[in-house]
Amino acid sequence: MDMEKLVSLCKRRGFLFQSSDIYGGLQGFWDYGPLGVELKRNVKNAWWRDMVTSHDESTQPANGPSPFEMTGLDCTIIMHPQVWKCSGHYDLFHDFMVDCRESRKRYRHDQLQGRWAAYNGQRIFVATESGGEEGCENATRRALKYFHLRTKQQDRLEWDGDLQPLTAIDDLTAVLGPDATEPGTLTEPREFNLMFKTIVGALGGEEDTVFLRPETAQGIFVNFKNVVDSTRLRIPFGIAQIGKSFRNEITPRNFTFRSREFEQMEIEFFCHPDSSHAWYQYWRDRRMRWYTDLGLAGDRLQLREHDRDELSHYSTGTADIEYAFPFLPDGEFGELEGIAHRGDFDLRSHMEGKLDEKSQPLEVELDEEGNPKHRGSGKDLTYRDEASGERYIPHVIEPSAGADRATLAFLCEAYSEDEAPDDKGKMQSRTVLKLHPRLAPIKAAVFPLVKKDGMPEKARELYRSLKKSWNVFYDEKGAVGRRYRRQDEAGTPYCITVDGESLTNDTVTIRDRDTLKQWRVEIAQCGSELHDRLQ
Ligand code: GAP
Repeated sequence: MDMEKLVSLCKRRGFLFQSSDIYGGLQGFWDYGPLGVELKRNVKNAWWRDMVTSHDESTQPANGPSPFEMTGLDCTIIMHPQVWKCSGHYDLFHDFMVDCRESRKRYRHDQLQGRWAAYNGQRIFVATESGGEEGCENATRRALKYFHLRTKQQDRLEWDGDLQPLTAIDDLTAVLGPDATEPGTLTEPREFNLMFKTIVGALGGEEDTVFLRPETAQGIFVNFKNVVDSTRLRIPFGIAQIGKSFRNEITPRNFTFRSREFEQMEIEFFCHPDSSHAWYQYWRDRRMRWYTDLGLAGDRLQLREHDRDELSHYSTGTADIEYAFPFLPDGEFGELEGIAHRGDFDLRSHMEGKLDEKSQPLEVELDEEGNPKHRGSGKDLTYRDEASGERYIPHVIEPSAGADRATLAFLCEAYSEDEAPDDKGKMQSRTVLKLHPRLAPIKAAVFPLVKKDGMPEKARELYRSLKKSWNVFYDEKGAVGRRYRRQDEAGTPYCITVDGESLTNDTVTIRDRDTLKQWRVEIAQCGSELHDRLQ
């Protein structure tokens, strides 16, 4: 699929516009147009309905350890700044960092330096964490090793200049990372203070600085006690939230894939530590099924389990659900959703103070004076099981999805080009969005075949009655073949036409967007026919 064609369709038909378009746009910000807002809302509604409101808490789910409950929250975008200190975002979302794909180590971009070394026609930039003599020695040792040379052969190495900062190097493919054995393993630098700052109140001093949330998850963690105290929910249960998140991404790109303002659909699922791994597997598979049920089937969708060495030590599993977006090189996938086993890291951090992710067992991170670097709330976030009397800190499984990325993936998957007959029966090429009926912005379009003989009146009557239940569209302008084509491009699954026969026997034709089949239905049955087909 050609991404440019989809981008052009999205603008032409009102799915997506660049934000502030008439002023030249703002990078990383997107507006959903009349069709886009319906599509994205349907994605979010399908998620909320499937995960929360239609969840049956009385039945043990297939492959789940036990029945469980689900509920929801809608938290504020701006929260107490301490939330982000204890969550780790304040420290971590800071500075430009580069990650080594080989050693899994992360370095401050401006703290690495290196030297160009060449041998036998190959030139590499040997990066090191130390400077001065130590840095030069380190670079020499590693260059010799890389080129399979002995110390006594070091005069065969050609050095180009002294140590210089990595920030001066544009192309990282020739860089040998400080702990890597091959060049080209360092990622592009990413700034880690991705949080947008703003000021609360009129005075606006540094102490009034707050942040726009970079994820919806923390609102759930800090409300865990409120939810337990105000409901009859008992563990295991999940709390869901859909809402805007903001990240000042360094390189927003690929349409809405990496935006600076986007929406997340997150669940924090609280369970007993002993069953947490089984719950992790349950949620990983359940979330994968959600995408396939809504049409992202096939080899463009994959579930990728993180390797053991990619996991935090407090986690027994993390998986990404990924989609082969057409803007990525062949064979590459982009993340749609992450499902993470987070242990008790988050609740403990908000209770005791930010934990040091590297400590094992997890301990509160201390400052130079030996005090907690970021103090927790001090509130008791433990849970007491009434039946057994056991008190424990629940473990958390976090399925975290992006509403914009899911919407984009559904659009990419749905886009297709084929042929359909025009009014004279001649085959013409057409563009069609084969969206799942639950996601389609418009569920049905109603047309009079011609604009006379009482057909518009009958069609409008049907349109009005269907509109009470669904987003339907009425169109009487132009040739009927062209009207079909416009609805195909919008992804409308059914077109209902009032024709001459309708006037005599109260029947209409329904046309299926994908199969192009048409069949007659009594007008009185149109509602139930749509009801059955739009599930
Ligand atoms: N609470 C965990 C969390 O936020 P994440 O992997 O950073 O995890 C979860 O984000 C999901 O949010 C991603 O899988 C993606 O779908 C979406 N997302 C993250 N950053 C995004 C961005 N800049 N633009 C659009 N969607 C984004």
